Amino acid sequence: MRRFTAFVLLLTAGASSAADTSKPLTRIGFGSCAHQEKPQPIWDAIVASKPDIFLCLGDNIYGDSEDMSVLKAKYDKAAAVPGYQKLLKICPVLATWDDHDYGKNDAGVEYAQKDQSQQLFLDFYGIPKDSPKRTQKGVYDSVTYGPEGQRVQIIILDLRYFRSPLKRGKRSEGMTYTPYIANNDADATVLGEAQWKWLEDQFKKPAEVRLLVSSVQLIAEDHGFEKWMNFPGEREKLFKMIRDTKANGIIALSGDRHLAELSQMTDVVGYPLYDLTSSGLNQASKTWRASEKNRHRVSGMPWGDNYGLITIDWAAADPTISLQIRDVVGELTIREQLPLSLLTPGKRAVKVPEEEPKVSEGSIAPKAALEKIGDKVTVEMKVNSVGGTKEKRMFLNSLKNFSSKESLAIVCMPKAFGDKYAKATAATFLNKTIRVTGVVSTFRDSIQIVVDDEKQLEIVEATPAKE
Ligand SMILES: [Fe+2]
Repeated sequence: MRRFTAFVLLLTAGASSAADTSKPLTRIGFGSCAHQEKPQPIWDAIVASKPDIFLCLGDNIYGDSEDMSVLKAKYDKAAAVPGYQKLLKICPVLATWDDHDYGKNDAGVEYAQKDQSQQLFLDFYGIPKDSPKRTQKGVYDSVTYGPEGQRVQIIILDLRYFRSPLKRGKRSEGMTYTPYIANNDADATVLGEAQWKWLEDQFKKPAEVRLLVSSVQLIAEDHGFEKWMNFPGEREKLFKMIRDTKANGIIALSGDRHLAELSQMTDVVGYPLYDLTSSGLNQASKTWRASEKNRHRVSGMPWGDNYGLITIDWAAADPTISLQIRDVVGELTIREQLPLSLLTPGKRAVKVPEEEPKVSEGSIAPKAALEKIGDKVTVEMKVNSVGGTKEKRMFLNSLKNFSSKESLAIVCMPKAFGDKYAKATAATFLNKTIRVTGVVSTFRDSIQIVVDDEKQLEIVEATPAKE
């Protein structure tokens, strides 16, 4: 482990130049799963995002070998990627490993070459030969950036070196893989004794924000791949340690899964705990795929290469943290904004019930309209999703999840697209507030208002789109 120093030295080909830890971090980039044999165009978007630091969350190469000369050659290839070289010129890079750069798919404590592999990993990230990290078992590390009041503690976990073997379940019908199941053995460990003790010490150090870098997902628990939940006792131990040390400001970052998503649990550490997963830099599915089940998902990006970005506005009285996922060209795909004060022990309630939107006089909200079947009403509502076509019928829905029974559908017939809306498209209505007058009716399971005259429909105001 590295002692706190004013400068973190990262010097070799794979790593970047000296980093000043006295300056506050305002833009933190991160990502995982970069195959050295495939193109890595995403680095250009990452560099354009101007991160102050970049965190590699594991599977930084696909090494997958017990032959260290093979692993070394693959690291050399990754170091030569032009986009990655550009990143090294603009910011320091910190890293943990996952299974593929460790050396073996899904491996843990049993991987025979772990000590040799660790030295190659440290070489790649420019850790000096006389660093204590060279003799430490495992690659865990912690560095704090910024002055008091603006400190970001980056806690880098090693989920490979000590981790007990995984347990396999049975493949049920229709499953395309054999899932892992919970290992509830009393001595099963994820972090190992020394790292647990070290982690407790880190949680007791002062910081405003703590980024908990975990190569595999901390919160998602419904899929059968690698995750903390394969060791339920260890996950609970982590939650309890956070509660007991009253460590504030924790946000988990994870990779590994070849998708991006934001997950959250409300009631495990005394304040909302987020896990922002970004994977892969070039290893995500390139074509559409459905979301997998995750009861804790806040938002997701089930396919497409991606990277993560956290921005912190320290100038605000209550600093604002923006959790972001961006795609291969830097477009924003997931964003959640939090006030820093939310990540304080004792702040349990987060699932704030959605406030009933205020509507103008003479109008009612869509939820109220659901109760007025057969009545003529004027509804004012934000259009959260649009379906169908002008030629047949266009559906303007009050909820994103338009099949929900809580969603009101405004069904615009072709006749509604006269002069006023002749050039209308879905974008004309999406995210806008509209006012509609008509009779509430039902069609199959949904509740609707049919519009066949443009006079029934009015766009009231544009809801500004989020960044
Ligand atoms: Fe992995």
